[in-house]
Amino acid sequence: MTTQEFIGKENFTIHTRTVSESCPSNIALIKYWGKYKDQIPANPSISYTLNHCKTNTVMEFIADEPFSVQTFLAGNEEVKFAEKIEKYFKNIEQYLPWILKGRYLVRTENTFPHSSGIASSASGFGAIAKCLMALDETFTGKTSEEQSLRKASFLARLGSGSACRSLYNGLVVWGDTEEVEGSSDLFAVRYPNAEILDIFRNFNDWVLLIHEGQKSVSSTVGHGLMNTNPYAERRFQEARENFVPMKEILKTGDMEGFIRLVEHEALTLHAMMMMSDPAFILMKTGTLEVINKVWDFRKETGLPLFFTLDAGANVHLLFPADGSEEKVKTFIEAELLQHTQKNGVVKDVMKF
Ligand code: DP6
Repeated sequence: MTTQEFIGKENFTIHTRTVSESCPSNIALIKYWGKYKDQIPANPSISYTLNHCKTNTVMEFIADEPFSVQTFLAGNEEVKFAEKIEKYFKNIEQYLPWILKGRYLVRTENTFPHSSGIASSASGFGAIAKCLMALDETFTGKTSEEQSLRKASFLARLGSGSACRSLYNGLVVWGDTEEVEGSSDLFAVRYPNAEILDIFRNFNDWVLLIHEGQKSVSSTVGHGLMNTNPYAERRFQEARENFVPMKEILKTGDMEGFIRLVEHEALTLHAMMMMSDPAFILMKTGTLEVINKVWDFRKETGLPLFFTLDAGANVHLLFPADGSEEKVKTFIEAELLQHTQKNGVVKDVMKF
């Protein structure tokens, strides 16, 4: 697979147009942490696309005006984000040759709190890539929906790696692995639903907002620190290997195996941060308290409540949405909410 298939058509007719698109966030089960030039991941990853946490974006393209980008988040102008988008647009010109031939007004809104630390770059770049593909279609002619989605995933990846997985619903794989047919380092693909048992196709993700506000180290800096991390190669290898049990688990419904693998991935991600030079820790006291309480709860009740983490302090609590989760929900409200900063919890669900 090469980037050739994504090179943009030189024949286009531009005109002023407004498009609007929406894209959800995602949470990785096998994590992407470490990358090479041009946003090539160091290992394959798999994630659940969320249902409720979304970015809605309205993109106004004013044709034949000098190239510039103005962005607004929930109505407030965001100059830093606009600079990032300008750079991004310049970077992807070969894939959309019309892209620098106009002025942009980009208005975005997240359905989840801005300061929550929920990955808005995944849903944000996903929505922008979809808007760009909607414009591309009107300027260069229609393509098939599958082709358009694949190119949107390709373009989203160049904005933020994990964003390429947000273009698809359900379980989504990014990164070349022989375990998943058609997988690629350049874009994400759906994990085949026929190979996922129902129990994994109806899951809750309740995100405990342990720490709201800016992270001390950005994901981009964190990825960069993997370049000098002496454990990096072993970690990349392990992530590749983890696709083997993951496939088996999804097919057989091995919930215990799923829990072990997903929690191990989350803790490995944070262990990599601690073993970077300079080291950094994104978990907070509340993160650790929640993890220990989840482990105790599982030991006492045997109920399938477990966690994953992204590059931050928040805890994603995962548990099946099979109608038997009342006890889990009561436990979360009574015991875990107190470790959040402001009783903050975002209740999402993956149904596909
Ligand atoms: C820990 O996709 O945010 O969430 O490619 O630099 O934009 P950039 O990084 P980003 O990294 C996400 C890392 C992660 C794991 C994951 O989503 O797989």
